[in-house]
Amino acid sequence: MSVNIAIDGPAGAGKSTIAKKIAKMLGYIYVDTGAMYRAMALYLLKSDVPVEDGAAISAACQDADISIEYINGEQVVLLNGENVNAYLRTEEVGNMASVSSTNGDVRKKLVQLQQKLAQKADVVMDGRDIGTCVLPNADVKIYLTASSYVRAKRRYEELLSKGETADLEKIEKDIIERDKRDMTREISPLKQAEDAVLVDSSDMTIDEVVSAIVNIIKTKKR
Ligand code: DC
Repeated sequence: MSVNIAIDGPAGAGKSTIAKKIAKMLGYIYVDTGAMYRAMALYLLKSDVPVEDGAAISAACQDADISIEYINGEQVVLLNGENVNAYLRTEEVGNMASVSSTNGDVRKKLVQLQQKLAQKADVVMDGRDIGTCVLPNADVKIYLTASSYVRAKRRYEELLSKGETADLEKIEKDIIERDKRDMTREISPLKQAEDAVLVDSSDMTIDEVVSAIVNIIKTKKR
């Protein structure tokens, strides 16, 4: 039986950075489910599907063949056979993903793919509904969060370090709005699973969070 570690939490809590490091330390595969929702969003944008048309999204998502490959340990998302990693992290794709991920047909298709991956291999999988819906029997469940201010500050500093301009207040406002959308949507809202361990990274460094989670995994897996 494969070992499954689920890490959920709001946007900007550091899930992917942390999950990647933990997967490397344990020799597991890192599965970034947000990237799958982003690839689906990219397909919908390319197909000119209107963001407000749920029926059109349900129909169009059936034609998007999304799969995952690992090249040098990095997750590569293939959309109808093409590596689309380079196009996934734009604002446009993120905004479409935030809306299209509320669609039940989109979720059904991607959850199936995620469950198949977790059956085949030891995984650290991050997202919003991994512990609650995708892998309800995961060996370890972590709910990783941080205050909206701290998450906004991290994003702000990341943008400044890339030489971009940024407005801290606006970033925090967007984060609060996105949290609300993710937490109140009808299907698979973001919430802490009953058996998940809460880790608040507001006052922790990346290394501290990694070692706290690795300790939780060691204790739980015994
Ligand atoms: O984590 P991210 O920003 O790459 O996720 C992109 C969008 O997909 C985000 O709006 C939340 C959604 N998502 C989801 O609904 N369920 C998941 N398991 C992962 C992401």
